Amino acid sequence: MAKVQATLRAAGWAVLAAITLCSVSGADATVNPALSESIRERLRMCATCHGEGGNSRTAGIPSVAGQPKTFLETQLILFREGLRVSPPMQPVTKGLSDREISLLAESFAASPVRVEPAEADPALEKRGREVARKLRCGTCHLPDFRGHAQIPRLAGQREEYLVDAMTALRDKRRSGADTIMSGVLHGVSDADIGAMAHFLSRLR
Ligand code: HEC
Ligand code: HEC
Repeated sequence: MAKVQATLRAAGWAVLAAITLCSVSGADATVNPALSESIRERLRMCATCHGEGGNSRTAGIPSVAGQPKTFLETQLILFREGLRVSPPMQPVTKGLSDREISLLAESFAASPVRVEPAEADPALEKRGREVARKLRCGTCHLPDFRGHAQIPRLAGQREEYLVDAMTALRDKRRSGADTIMSGVLHGVSDADIGAMAHFLSRLR
């Protein structure tokens, strides 16, 4: 069943990517007018999935606003080279030059993070904070979880994406990923992953 769902999801993404690649139009106030028209067009295309300014409002699609520039560049290169496999991200990064990747990364890194308000379960949030402290997640992701260099921002990231990402990293299913994270999450339960995602997604 899980396999069928994954296949359906992949097919859906491919269609969505094809549609968004063909239907870029309209002005967007969040796109810096000093950038070339082709980069601005790309940014608008990214925003059709990743949300305005890179603040995702769609399940399964991560926010990229406020991510460290180096992290974004690294991940875009991994997608372009087919080292991190993602049905929607492969077609959109195909043929991008390193310079274009840097401009896209710079733009989203500078974009303000706008997290959707979501009710918190205080007990789950507290448990998530404690597990993250015990496992010293903040030593790399920084104590406020804003990330730096090649280490991603976790504060305000979508909850269900954090669960998916951590589960895939723990189970060594995320291609192209640094092996650091599967080591860190080795043996961590689904419940503890869920609690950390609840806590991290509500951080501002
Ligand atoms: C058709 C929808 C779609 C479009 C268009 C799209 N993305 Fe994505 N993007 C995704 C999905 C879904 C993921 C999650 C992939 C995964 O983890 O398997 C993702 C992941 C990413 C990541 C990794 C983020 C992280 O936290 O690991 C970056 C960076 C990214 N996209 C940047 C971009 C940029 C830049 C563009 C425009 C050039 C773009 N995306 C266009 C759907 C899209
Ligand atoms: C030793 C440094 C280090 C520690 C400790 C660490 N991380 Fe990471 N984390 C990384 C690096 C590096 C990446 C980027 C991995 C990649 O994609 O190659 C990452 C990626 C992630 C991602 C994927 C985010 C995204 O946008 O795709 C999540 C989620 C995450 N870490 C959560 C955690 C949590 C929760 C903890 C504590 C249990 C933790 N990390 C501890 C270094 C670390």
